[in-house]
Amino acid sequence: MSERSAADESRLTDLTCVVTGAASERGIGRGVALALAGQGRPLALLDLDGARLAHAAEAVRAAGSPAVVTAEVDVADEASVAAAISAVESARASPTGPLPPIGALVHCAGVADPTPFLEMTSSGFQRTLAINTLGLFHLARRVLPGMLDQGLGRIVAMSSTAAQDGGGNFSTSAYAASKAGVEGLIRGLAKEVAGTGVTTAAIAPANIDTDIMGGALVGQRREEFVARTPVGRLGTTRELGELVAFLVGPHGGFTTGATYNLNGGLRVG
Ligand SMILES: NC(=O)c1ccc[n+]([C@@H]2O[C@H](COP(=O)([O-])OP(=O)(O)OC[C@H]3O[C@@H](n4cnc5c(N)ncnc54)[C@H](O)[C@@H]3O)[C@@H](O)[C@H]2O)c1
Repeated sequence: MSERSAADESRLTDLTCVVTGAASERGIGRGVALALAGQGRPLALLDLDGARLAHAAEAVRAAGSPAVVTAEVDVADEASVAAAISAVESARASPTGPLPPIGALVHCAGVADPTPFLEMTSSGFQRTLAINTLGLFHLARRVLPGMLDQGLGRIVAMSSTAAQDGGGNFSTSAYAASKAGVEGLIRGLAKEVAGTGVTTAAIAPANIDTDIMGGALVGQRREEFVARTPVGRLGTTRELGELVAFLVGPHGGFTTGATYNLNGGLRVG
């Protein structure tokens, strides 16, 4: 294999980042999109909640993204993902402004099902895996060919501390299994594409105050979450966004297949 140049990766700053799960106003996808917008990255925002995507687009434009497109998608559905990514790719020539090729995928769309194991149905279990894990497969399968052609790309996905400790705060076994699957897929893909210019990463957050925790953390529930977070506070979507901005940026290319814990010390190592 011939030696690659780190300088080639500076091209990433001009390429489009696809962010799933960006519609949720208090969510991680939005925090990621805002951090990337702050770096002037072109963005494609994807979510099941099409009604809130227009607001997301406005917010990221205001935060500095030079080109933004949105697409409604159900990441659990392969055809829906194919249609959304095609729409993003053809938006390159749209009258609202050219969109550069896709340089990064950040899969933040996700669900957490609190159903106890013995009450969980097969279809409920499959739905969690279909969004959190299979969704990553659908998206990566669709964007990877272009990344390989251009010899450059980043694939980042949200895992969870639940993949490591089984969860239990706002989710149950299906969620833990789905996130362990995300980490396995990220590691396997890192190896399969090693040396092509495409790298992967998982992020395992915990205790970030978003709607997935069963609504905003307030009162005694908030105090309980803070009390069991060693750094003494909850995490912010901005902090998560800045980590992603590093990973999908020009200086993030010497790490691949790793899981980054962003959990306030809840789990170390
Ligand atoms: N908040 C935390 O502390 C925490 C901890 C661990 C992991 N995570 C992970 O981070 C990711 C983001 O979660 P969040 O906290 O922002 O939650 P959130 O509920 O605020 O956002 C989730 C987003 O995913 C979208 N979505 C759901 N199903 C979808 C589908 N089928 N297709 C497309 N979009 C869909 C929702 O519309 C929403 O915009 C999730 O994968 C979650 O498991 C969060």
